[in-house]
Amino acid sequence: MKLMAGNSNLPLARAIAGYLEIPLTDASVRRFADEEIFIEIHENVRGEDVFLVQSTSFPANDNLMELLIGIDALRRASARRITAVIPYFGYARQDRKPGPRTPISAKLVANLITEAGANRVLSVDLHAGQIQGFFDIPTDNLYAAPVMAADILARYGDKDLMVVSPDVGGVVRARALAKRLDNAPLAIVDKRRERPGESEVMNIIGDVKGRACVLIDDIVDSGGTLCNAAQALMDAGARSVAAYITHGVLSGGAVARVDNSALTELVITDTILPTDATMDSQRIRVLTVAPLIGEAVRRIADESSVSSLFD
Ligand code: R5P
Repeated sequence: MKLMAGNSNLPLARAIAGYLEIPLTDASVRRFADEEIFIEIHENVRGEDVFLVQSTSFPANDNLMELLIGIDALRRASARRITAVIPYFGYARQDRKPGPRTPISAKLVANLITEAGANRVLSVDLHAGQIQGFFDIPTDNLYAAPVMAADILARYGDKDLMVVSPDVGGVVRARALAKRLDNAPLAIVDKRRERPGESEVMNIIGDVKGRACVLIDDIVDSGGTLCNAAQALMDAGARSVAAYITHGVLSGGAVARVDNSALTELVITDTILPTDATMDSQRIRVLTVAPLIGEAVRRIADESSVSSLFD
Protein backbone atom coordinates (compact mmCIF):
# COMPACT_ATOMS: atom_id res chain seq x y z
CA MET A 1 0.00 0.00 0.00
CA LYS A 2 1.17 3.54 -0.74
CA LEU A 3 -0.21 6.84 0.52
CA MET A 4 0.41 9.92 -1.59
CA ALA A 5 -0.70 13.47 -0.81
CA GLY A 6 -1.70 16.50 -2.83
CA ASN A 7 -1.12 19.96 -1.38
CA SER A 8 -4.65 20.75 -0.18
CA ASN A 9 -4.27 19.30 3.32
CA LEU A 10 -0.78 17.99 4.07
CA PRO A 11 -1.20 17.88 7.88
CA LEU A 12 -4.20 15.53 7.50
CA ALA A 13 -2.33 13.34 4.98
CA ARG A 14 0.66 13.16 7.37
CA ALA A 15 -1.66 12.22 10.25
CA ILE A 16 -3.24 9.44 8.16
CA ALA A 17 0.26 8.22 7.27
CA GLY A 18 1.11 8.29 10.99
CA TYR A 19 -1.98 6.20 11.80
CA LEU A 20 -1.01 3.66 9.13
CA GLU A 21 2.66 3.80 10.14
CA ILE A 22 3.81 4.28 6.56
CA PRO A 23 5.68 7.20 4.95
CA LEU A 24 4.03 9.46 2.39
CA THR A 25 5.06 8.58 -1.14
CA ASP A 26 7.84 10.83 -2.39
CA ALA A 27 6.30 13.12 -5.00
CA SER A 28 6.51 16.77 -5.91
CA VAL A 29 4.08 19.26 -7.33
CA ARG A 30 5.45 22.15 -9.34
CA ARG A 31 3.94 25.01 -11.27
CA PHE A 32 4.91 26.30 -14.67
CA ALA A 33 5.12 30.09 -15.03
CA ASP A 34 1.53 30.17 -16.30
CA GLU A 35 0.33 28.18 -13.21
CA GLU A 36 0.00 24.84 -15.04
CA ILE A 37 0.44 22.04 -12.50
CA PHE A 38 3.16 19.42 -12.95
CA ILE A 39 3.47 16.35 -10.69
CA GLU A 40 6.40 13.97 -10.47
CA ILE A 41 6.42 10.75 -8.44
CA HIS A 42 9.95 10.01 -7.25
CA GLU A 43 9.53 6.34 -6.31
CA ASN A 44 8.28 3.18 -7.96
CA VAL A 45 4.51 2.63 -7.64
CA ARG A 46 4.17 -0.11 -10.29
CA GLY A 47 1.66 -2.71 -9.13
CA GLU A 48 0.92 -0.82 -5.89
CA ASP A 49 -2.41 -0.13 -4.16
CA VAL A 50 -2.17 3.68 -3.98
CA PHE A 51 -4.32 6.09 -1.95
CA LEU A 52 -4.09 9.71 -3.06
CA VAL A 53 -5.29 12.21 -0.41
CA GLN A 54 -6.60 15.51 -1.73
CA SER A 55 -9.57 17.61 -0.62
CA THR A 56 -11.13 19.72 -3.38
CA SER A 57 -11.46 22.67 -1.01
CA PHE A 58 -10.41 26.32 -1.56
CA PRO A 59 -8.91 27.01 -4.09
CA ALA A 60 -11.34 24.39 -5.39
CA ASN A 61 -10.35 24.41 -9.05
CA ASP A 62 -6.59 24.25 -8.42
CA ASN A 63 -7.01 21.44 -5.90
CA LEU A 64 -9.31 19.51 -8.22
CA MET A 65 -6.85 19.85 -11.10
CA GLU A 66 -4.02 18.69 -8.83
CA LEU A 67 -6.09 15.62 -7.90
CA LEU A 68 -6.80 14.79 -11.55
CA ILE A 69 -3.17 15.21 -12.60
CA GLY A 70 -2.01 13.12 -9.60
CA ILE A 71 -4.36 10.30 -10.62
CA ASP A 72 -3.10 10.51 -14.20
CA ALA A 73 0.52 10.36 -13.04
CA LEU A 74 -0.24 7.27 -10.93
CA ARG A 75 -2.10 5.55 -13.76
CA ARG A 76 0.75 6.15 -16.19
CA ALA A 77 3.19 4.87 -13.54
CA SER A 78 1.24 1.55 -13.57
CA ALA A 79 -0.26 1.69 -10.06
CA ARG A 80 -2.44 -1.43 -9.63
CA ARG A 81 -5.32 0.40 -7.97
CA ILE A 82 -5.83 4.12 -7.36
CA THR A 83 -8.16 5.32 -4.61
CA ALA A 84 -8.96 9.03 -4.61
CA VAL A 85 -9.25 9.93 -0.92
CA ILE A 86 -11.24 13.17 -1.00
CA PRO A 87 -12.02 14.11 2.63
CA TYR A 88 -13.97 17.17 1.42
CA PHE A 89 -15.61 16.70 -1.96
CA GLY A 90 -16.09 20.20 -3.37
CA TYR A 91 -18.79 20.96 -5.95
CA ALA A 92 -21.06 18.58 -3.99
CA ARG A 93 -23.69 21.27 -3.48
CA GLN A 94 -24.24 21.37 -7.24
CA ASP A 95 -25.91 17.96 -7.19
CA ARG A 96 -29.09 18.81 -9.13
CA LYS A 97 -30.44 21.40 -11.55
CA PRO A 98 -31.79 24.25 -9.39
CA GLY A 99 -33.27 25.83 -12.53
CA PRO A 100 -33.31 25.50 -16.29
CA ARG A 101 -30.00 25.74 -18.18
CA THR A 102 -27.85 25.06 -15.09
CA PRO A 103 -25.15 22.36 -14.68
CA ILE A 104 -24.94 19.39 -12.34
CA SER A 105 -21.29 20.06 -11.56
CA ALA A 106 -20.99 17.33 -8.91
CA LYS A 107 -21.67 14.76 -11.64
CA LEU A 108 -19.20 16.44 -14.00
CA VAL A 109 -16.49 16.32 -11.31
CA ALA A 110 -17.29 12.64 -10.60
CA ASN A 111 -16.90 11.92 -14.33
CA LEU A 112 -13.56 13.75 -14.45
CA ILE A 113 -12.17 11.80 -11.47
CA THR A 114 -13.26 8.49 -12.99
CA GLU A 115 -11.99 9.42 -16.46
CA ALA A 116 -8.61 10.45 -15.01
CA GLY A 117 -8.18 6.85 -13.84
CA ALA A 118 -9.37 6.52 -10.23
CA ASN A 119 -10.57 3.01 -9.40
CA ARG A 120 -12.23 3.91 -6.09
CA VAL A 121 -13.25 6.97 -4.12
CA LEU A 122 -13.23 7.50 -0.37
CA SER A 123 -14.89 10.62 1.05
CA VAL A 124 -16.36 11.95 4.28
CA ASP A 125 -19.92 13.19 4.81
CA LEU A 126 -20.83 13.74 1.17
CA HIS A 127 -23.32 16.60 0.97
CA ALA A 128 -25.92 14.17 -0.35
CA GLY A 129 -25.65 10.38 -0.09
CA GLN A 130 -26.76 9.95 -3.69
CA ILE A 131 -23.52 11.57 -4.92
CA GLN A 132 -22.06 8.08 -4.39
CA GLY A 133 -24.15 7.09 -7.38
CA PHE A 134 -22.57 9.80 -9.55
CA PHE A 135 -19.47 7.60 -9.61
CA ASP A 136 -19.55 4.35 -11.56
CA ILE A 137 -16.67 3.08 -9.42
CA PRO A 138 -16.87 1.90 -5.77
CA THR A 139 -17.31 4.92 -3.51
CA ASP A 140 -17.14 4.80 0.28
CA ASN A 141 -18.79 7.65 2.17
CA LEU A 142 -17.47 7.83 5.75
CA TYR A 143 -19.37 9.58 8.54
CA ALA A 144 -17.75 11.94 11.02
CA ALA A 145 -20.68 11.16 13.36
CA PRO A 146 -18.77 8.73 15.67
CA VAL A 147 -15.98 11.30 16.18
CA MET A 148 -18.52 14.05 16.89
CA ALA A 149 -20.78 11.92 19.09
CA ALA A 150 -17.88 11.06 21.42
CA ASP A 151 -17.03 14.75 21.80
CA ILE A 152 -20.66 15.83 22.25
CA LEU A 153 -21.24 13.21 24.95
CA ALA A 154 -18.08 14.27 26.78
CA ARG A 155 -19.03 17.97 26.66
CA TYR A 156 -22.80 18.04 26.78
CA GLY A 157 -23.83 14.51 27.80
CA ASP A 158 -24.87 15.58 31.30
CA LYS A 159 -26.81 18.64 30.06
CA ASP A 160 -30.38 18.67 28.78
CA LEU A 161 -29.22 17.93 25.25
CA MET A 162 -31.21 18.61 22.08
CA VAL A 163 -29.92 17.90 18.57
CA VAL A 164 -31.00 20.50 15.99
CA SER A 165 -30.97 20.48 12.21
CA PRO A 166 -30.42 24.04 10.88
CA ASP A 167 -32.67 23.34 7.89
CA VAL A 168 -35.19 20.80 6.72
CA GLY A 169 -32.64 19.27 4.30
CA GLY A 170 -30.36 18.21 7.16
CA VAL A 171 -32.89 16.27 9.21
CA VAL A 172 -31.69 12.78 8.21
CA ARG A 173 -28.11 13.64 9.17
CA ALA A 174 -29.15 15.20 12.50
CA ARG A 175 -31.43 12.28 13.33
CA ALA A 176 -28.60 9.78 12.68
CA LEU A 177 -26.39 11.68 15.12
CA ALA A 178 -29.17 11.97 17.71
CA LYS A 179 -29.45 8.17 17.60
CA ARG A 180 -25.78 7.88 18.58
CA LEU A 181 -26.43 10.27 21.50
CA ASP A 182 -28.70 7.87 23.37
CA ASN A 183 -31.61 8.95 21.15
CA ALA A 184 -31.41 12.62 22.12
CA PRO A 185 -34.53 14.62 21.11
CA LEU A 186 -34.49 16.41 17.76
CA ALA A 187 -35.60 19.91 16.74
CA ILE A 188 -35.63 21.48 13.28
CA VAL A 189 -35.13 25.07 12.17
CA ASP A 190 -37.56 25.76 9.36
CA LYS A 191 -36.45 28.78 7.37
CA ARG A 192 -39.30 30.43 5.47
CA ARG A 193 -39.90 33.54 3.41
CA GLU A 194 -43.61 34.05 3.90
CA ARG A 195 -43.94 36.53 1.04
CA PRO A 196 -41.46 37.53 -1.70
CA GLY A 197 -39.37 40.50 -0.61
CA GLU A 198 -40.00 39.92 3.12
CA SER A 199 -37.23 38.74 5.40
CA GLU A 200 -36.88 35.11 6.38
CA VAL A 201 -38.80 33.78 9.37
CA MET A 202 -37.14 31.09 11.44
CA ASN A 203 -39.73 28.68 12.84
CA ILE A 204 -38.44 26.19 15.37
CA ILE A 205 -40.10 22.79 15.23
CA GLY A 206 -39.68 21.33 18.72
CA ASP A 207 -39.50 22.81 22.23
CA VAL A 208 -35.94 24.00 22.84
CA LYS A 209 -36.65 25.99 26.05
CA GLY A 210 -33.88 25.44 28.60
CA ARG A 211 -32.08 22.96 26.34
CA ALA A 212 -28.39 22.71 25.47
CA CYS A 213 -28.83 22.72 21.68
CA VAL A 214 -26.30 21.15 19.33
CA LEU A 215 -26.68 22.15 15.68
CA ILE A 216 -25.54 19.50 13.19
CA ASP A 217 -24.66 20.15 9.53
CA ASP A 218 -22.25 18.97 6.85
CA ILE A 219 -20.93 22.32 5.63
CA VAL A 220 -20.39 25.76 7.15
CA ASP A 221 -19.50 28.14 4.34
CA SER A 222 -20.52 31.78 4.88
CA GLY A 223 -21.84 30.84 8.32
CA GLY A 224 -25.18 32.49 7.52
CA THR A 225 -27.33 29.37 7.94
CA LEU A 226 -25.60 28.49 11.18
CA CYS A 227 -25.50 31.89 12.90
CA ASN A 228 -29.12 32.67 12.02
CA ALA A 229 -30.23 29.30 13.34
CA ALA A 230 -28.25 29.84 16.57
CA GLN A 231 -29.92 33.21 17.12
CA ALA A 232 -33.38 31.78 16.41
CA LEU A 233 -32.76 29.01 18.98
CA MET A 234 -31.64 31.48 21.65
CA ASP A 235 -34.71 33.64 20.89
CA ALA A 236 -36.84 30.52 21.40
CA GLY A 237 -35.40 30.07 24.89
CA ALA A 238 -32.49 27.63 24.39
CA ARG A 239 -29.98 27.59 27.28
CA SER A 240 -26.99 27.40 24.94
CA VAL A 241 -26.22 26.60 21.31
CA ALA A 242 -23.11 24.79 20.02
CA ALA A 243 -22.55 23.50 16.48
CA TYR A 244 -20.83 20.41 15.10
CA ILE A 245 -20.19 20.67 11.38
CA THR A 246 -17.98 18.30 9.37
CA HIS A 247 -16.55 20.59 6.68
CA GLY A 248 -15.31 24.03 7.76
CA VAL A 249 -15.34 25.80 4.39
CA LEU A 250 -15.56 29.11 6.30
CA SER A 251 -15.16 31.50 3.38
CA GLY A 252 -15.16 35.31 3.40
CA GLY A 253 -16.02 36.75 6.81
CA ALA A 254 -17.37 33.47 8.19
CA VAL A 255 -14.93 33.22 11.11
CA ALA A 256 -15.77 36.76 12.27
CA ARG A 257 -19.48 35.95 11.86
CA VAL A 258 -19.08 32.90 14.11
CA ASP A 259 -17.00 34.86 16.63
CA ASN A 260 -19.80 37.44 16.92
CA SER A 261 -22.68 34.97 16.93
CA ALA A 262 -24.87 33.45 19.63
CA LEU A 263 -22.88 30.20 19.40
CA THR A 264 -20.89 29.08 22.41
CA GLU A 265 -18.64 27.09 20.08
CA LEU A 266 -18.34 25.71 16.56
CA VAL A 267 -16.65 22.33 16.24
CA ILE A 268 -15.43 21.32 12.78
CA THR A 269 -13.17 18.53 11.53
CA ASP A 270 -9.90 18.67 9.60
CA THR A 271 -11.30 17.43 6.26
CA ILE A 272 -10.34 20.95 5.10
CA LEU A 273 -7.08 22.52 6.26
CA PRO A 274 -8.09 25.14 8.86
CA THR A 275 -6.93 28.67 8.02
CA ASP A 276 -4.93 30.80 10.47
CA ALA A 277 -8.10 32.82 11.21
CA THR A 278 -9.91 29.59 12.10
CA MET A 279 -7.08 28.43 14.36
CA ASP A 280 -6.96 31.86 16.06
CA SER A 281 -10.70 31.88 16.79
CA GLN A 282 -11.59 31.32 20.43
CA ARG A 283 -14.95 29.86 19.37
CA ILE A 284 -13.82 27.28 16.81
CA ARG A 285 -12.39 23.88 17.70
CA VAL A 286 -11.09 21.26 15.27
CA LEU A 287 -11.51 17.49 15.69
CA THR A 288 -9.41 15.15 13.58
CA VAL A 289 -10.81 12.50 11.25
CA ALA A 290 -7.32 11.13 10.48
CA PRO A 291 -7.80 7.86 12.45
CA LEU A 292 -11.22 7.36 10.84
CA ILE A 293 -9.84 7.80 7.32
CA GLY A 294 -6.68 5.83 8.19
CA GLU A 295 -8.74 2.88 9.43
CA ALA A 296 -10.95 2.98 6.30
CA VAL A 297 -7.82 3.01 4.10
CA ARG A 298 -6.43 0.04 6.01
CA ARG A 299 -9.69 -1.88 5.59
CA ILE A 300 -9.94 -1.11 1.86
CA ALA A 301 -6.35 -2.30 1.39
CA ASP A 302 -7.14 -5.48 3.40
CA GLU A 303 -10.42 -5.99 1.49
CA SER A 304 -12.32 -5.95 4.79
CA SER A 305 -15.58 -4.21 5.76
CA VAL A 306 -15.66 -0.42 5.92
CA SER A 307 -19.32 -0.12 6.93
CA SER A 308 -18.67 -2.05 10.15
CA LEU A 309 -16.64 1.00 11.28
CA PHE A 310 -20.03 2.62 11.96
CA ASP A 311 -21.84 -0.27 13.71
C1 R5P B 1 -26.78 23.31 2.73
O1 R5P B 1 -27.57 22.49 2.27
C2 R5P B 1 -25.63 22.89 3.59
O2 R5P B 1 -25.93 21.75 4.33
C3 R5P B 1 -25.20 24.02 4.51
O3 R5P B 1 -26.27 24.32 5.40
C4 R5P B 1 -24.83 25.26 3.73
O4 R5P B 1 -23.93 24.94 2.70
C5 R5P B 1 -24.21 26.29 4.67
O5 R5P B 1 -23.88 27.42 3.92
P1 R5P B 1 -23.67 28.83 4.62
O6 R5P B 1 -22.72 28.61 5.77
O7 R5P B 1 -23.10 29.69 3.54
O8 R5P B 1 -25.01 29.32 5.09
